[in-house]
Amino acid sequence: MLEVFNVTKSFGGVKAVDNCSITVEKAGICGLIGPNGSGKSTLFNVITGYYRSDSGKILYNGNDICKMKPHEIVNMGMSRTFQLTHLFKRMTLMENMLIAPKLQEGENIWKALLGRNVKKQEHGNFEKAMELLEFFDLTHLRNEYADSISFGQQKLLEMARTMMAEPEMVLMDEPTGGVNPVLINKIIGYIRKLRDMGITFLIVEHNMSVISELCDEVYVLDYGKNIASGSPEEVRNDKRVIDAYLGAEHVT
Ligand SMILES: Nc1ncnc2c1ncn2[C@@H]1O[C@H](COP(=O)(O)OP(=O)(O)OP(=O)(O)O)[C@@H](O)[C@H]1O
Ligand SMILES: [Mg+2]
Repeated sequence: MLEVFNVTKSFGGVKAVDNCSITVEKAGICGLIGPNGSGKSTLFNVITGYYRSDSGKILYNGNDICKMKPHEIVNMGMSRTFQLTHLFKRMTLMENMLIAPKLQEGENIWKALLGRNVKKQEHGNFEKAMELLEFFDLTHLRNEYADSISFGQQKLLEMARTMMAEPEMVLMDEPTGGVNPVLINKIIGYIRKLRDMGITFLIVEHNMSVISELCDEVYVLDYGKNIASGSPEEVRNDKRVIDAYLGAEHVT
């Protein structure tokens, strides 16, 4: 579904991503791990059109997406969440849902925000938002401001928001980072359910038990280079991975 070939991205003299290749199969959950600063978020930004790669090739469903803009990539069916959530903190959960990317073709987001000129299609988006809030167990909070809910619930809201675009593939940058253990288990459950519905995932995570529970395949980055890949079990036992990453204190 997603094929990344020999992608490199430098900032000044730093090769944040260095000749990196990964493949993600349809309806699978692929993990991306590695120490802080190893290039995981940069690779996400390159894949999702936020940064332009210096070299290499990225195919999504066989289409070259290297030069596409973020919204064009969303329109092709690939959405993402951010390491630090990208929510509108002084808007309610429902308002955040309704201004999600690709709300509808050519629609002016402010109309939906101001509640004027509500058309049939907008009604459809409202229903979709309600269904998604229900799915993520956030319905009771729909009229609260996004900054008044817990960080873990904000992560859930961002997942829900991402689903408004009805993606085929979702890239999640640390979905359980900073989240309490109870909510981590809920997030694992939601990701599994969505995978069972046919959605493909690429997930950056520092929590190795989350990786082991969810992923079919894992890629390991170190200084921007892919140093290993395989099943969670295989990479856990790989000496290069233990030396570069799993020996470190912050890994859970
Ligand atoms: N916009 C930028 N400008 C300059 N350097 C950057 C930029 N973004 C990332 N870098 C550098 O690129 C390298 C990779 O950073 P990146 O954020 O991709 O790492 P990461 O693997 O996501 O780390 P973490 O686990 O801490 O989130 C780091 O050396 C970082 O300082
Ligand atoms: Mg990161």
